[in-house]
Amino acid sequence: MQGADELTSGPGETLQTVGDLIRWGASRLNAAGRHFGHGTDNAADEARVLVFYALALDFDAPDYFYQCRVTGAERQSAIDLIQQRVASGQPTAYLTGEAWFAGLRFEVNENVLVPRSPLAELIANGFAPWCQPAQLHRALDLGTGSGCIAIAMATHIGCRVDATDVSEQALAVAARNVAAHDLDDQVELIQSDVYEQLQGRRYDLIVSNPPYVPADSMATLPDEYGHEPDLALAAGDDGLDIVRRIISGAAEHLNPGGVLVCEVGESAQTVIECYPQLPFEWVDFQRGGDGVFVLRANALTEVVADVG
Ligand SMILES: C[S@@+](CC[C@H](N)C(=O)[O-])C[C@H]1O[C@@H](n2cnc3c(N)ncnc32)[C@H](O)[C@@H]1O
Repeated sequence: MQGADELTSGPGETLQTVGDLIRWGASRLNAAGRHFGHGTDNAADEARVLVFYALALDFDAPDYFYQCRVTGAERQSAIDLIQQRVASGQPTAYLTGEAWFAGLRFEVNENVLVPRSPLAELIANGFAPWCQPAQLHRALDLGTGSGCIAIAMATHIGCRVDATDVSEQALAVAARNVAAHDLDDQVELIQSDVYEQLQGRRYDLIVSNPPYVPADSMATLPDEYGHEPDLALAAGDDGLDIVRRIISGAAEHLNPGGVLVCEVGESAQTVIECYPQLPFEWVDFQRGGDGVFVLRANALTEVVADVG
């Protein structure tokens, strides 16, 4: 790999500071054509995450740290981590074993999607204007993965949350995250294929970031996405295999006045075309992201009988 020998036999000594390592890492990531879509959107930020992790620095370390010199062992561990990211294409979060969402730290591994949903912004705002915090008692996070949405809702909103996933391996990761955030009394993990194990349960809010990538898009995703579980991304030919089931079962699991909030990303247009009779409200995010709709329980109850 370009740069490896030169770094251990001399010129590597020129990488003296934290800033030097980040600059070098960014160049290597760009030169390798790596993709950034799992927590950062550019090479400099990605290299910073890798270097800070290797050096056990807090992400809010003071600016003067960038000029601080590193030890030989620190330099080598940062170089090793960057080279692993470049060579393997694994998202950084799988190499470090952690990701941040809604200001909270989560354990992640290749059994769960790397948390990155724009839903974090809605959680921080208590789902305003669609929900009133005082009326938000029970929520469902459908397809919880690492548990990030459920845990963020329990932490920031204070409601009780049922967190479901069809994947046993994902639920094992979610269980460790629920315990790490001390939320065992507030978040219940349930293995369920969409609503199958939720008979009789009703919620003020159903939130989901389900798989929604259409088959043709799956074939063209950058390497990084190939390290994530297929089950977390792929959703049939048009990307709506799971979304259809979420919409058709929502009325039966929402309390009067409740809302369904669902991320569908690039499949938004297909959703609109499939359900012309549903009054989708599309969320306008301030911090970036799109493709999230809101449906109110009353609208679903009126028209759901007509949709497939
Ligand atoms: C896009 S990931 C979202 C994970 C997490 N909520 C997040 O935002 O990072 C979708 C999740 O839905 C789960 N899933 C896929 N099919 C499912 C099904 N039929 N029923 C329940 N969960 C399902 C996957 O295992 C995966 O964890």
